[in-house]
Amino acid sequence: MDQSLATDLNKAAFGPDFHWGVSTAAFQIEGAAETDGKGLSVWDVFASRKNKIKNGHRPGDACNFYHQYADDIGLMAELNIPNFRFSLSWSRLLPAGVGAVNPKGIDYYNRVIDTLLEKGITPWVTLYHWDLPHALEQRGGWTHRDIVSWFSEYTALCAQHYGDRVKHFMVMNEPSVFTGAGYFLGVHAPGRRGLSNYLKAIHHSTLATATGANILRAALPKAQIGTTFSCTHLEPYTHSPSHIRATQRVDTLLNRTFIEPLLGLGYPIADFSVLKKIEKYIQPDDYDKMAFDFDFIGIQCYTREIVKASLWTPYIGASIVKASQRKVPHTLMNWEVYPEAIYEMIKKFSAYPQIKKLIVTENGAAFPDVWQSGAVNDVKRTEYLQGYLKEVLRAKREGHKTDGYFVWTLTDNFEWAEGFHPRFGLVHVDFETQQRTVKNSGLWYRDFLK
Ligand code: GAL
Repeated sequence: MDQSLATDLNKAAFGPDFHWGVSTAAFQIEGAAETDGKGLSVWDVFASRKNKIKNGHRPGDACNFYHQYADDIGLMAELNIPNFRFSLSWSRLLPAGVGAVNPKGIDYYNRVIDTLLEKGITPWVTLYHWDLPHALEQRGGWTHRDIVSWFSEYTALCAQHYGDRVKHFMVMNEPSVFTGAGYFLGVHAPGRRGLSNYLKAIHHSTLATATGANILRAALPKAQIGTTFSCTHLEPYTHSPSHIRATQRVDTLLNRTFIEPLLGLGYPIADFSVLKKIEKYIQPDDYDKMAFDFDFIGIQCYTREIVKASLWTPYIGASIVKASQRKVPHTLMNWEVYPEAIYEMIKKFSAYPQIKKLIVTENGAAFPDVWQSGAVNDVKRTEYLQGYLKEVLRAKREGHKTDGYFVWTLTDNFEWAEGFHPRFGLVHVDFETQQRTVKNSGLWYRDFLK
């Protein structure tokens, strides 16, 4: 590590226009799954099924953000957090996904947004963070092409009600994860499997992202419109050609397939032949409809993975050598702590000339938190954040597009199929009492942001 980077790690070094914040998602924090007219989402249903969530956890009240939002926003203000990225629950606004609007749902996010603005915190709204209305899944969900028009209706509603105060929108959160885990592997909601479900979901989510972005732009010409992608720095297990080729396939699928069509480059079929099968689902004028000139792109990077060629893994022919097997420092998610990954990913995405601004819309870590004399002394989380931020600064100094950084996440919350065990928060939550305690990492971030 360049010594000057270590000593320069202060907010000013990133410049006055850099966006700092924290990120979260409706399903992971709100609870109130059936309160005030909300319809069920695919995650409400999936999480209620047997053996879908580790340790038999149930989301229940999650962090009770639905009722405690004002206190949590107050806490954010105390922590000097200037931007809050959160998602809207589609089925809270449109319980059946389309049609009848739920006025209490509309009002809820009005109150959240107004409270943020009163506290001087800028709302950054994600329209879709994986919690599809269950009623739409019953009609085919992301495998059904009509989802583009269902999503359009929802997007227009959000623009109509919140566009007067919300100036930063992200259309989608990590399509690679909700399509891959939810429609190919079946380990996330809605629990579907198979290549054709997956390819349809990929294509329809791409179309919906561009269509939704166009709707926002037409309705709110002054809003900043972005969308977010997960990305992982990949390296081959050895320099053997088979591992190198396997790494390229995984890179194509995870890091390129979702963003490139939206940038007008089409699907990277030439570099991963299985993707050719997606052409069945593409209609002639889709290519034009798939691209959008985003104001910013969000990337969400946590780790590096090491890739091995594997004859036994269908389609991709590759497998991951987990961090625990490699005996390298890792988080509770079994993700290697590898700060250079974020530098590599900023560099990679910044190289697309079509990207105007690049913001790290998620980065953070889950560790076993230790209480010491009434405080959570989460040294590892603070070190993780500092280590990754130094690499963000390095990328910025080298002239790569680097326009913001959002920590995942404010409060410990419901970590999808992993349940409540991996705690990512800057703020500890006692899920029995809903008591919040700022961890030492949160105090560090507060002082950093001062
Ligand atoms: C992202 C996701 C978040 C959160 C985070 C930590 O993939 O967008 O919802 O779960 O990872 O695992």
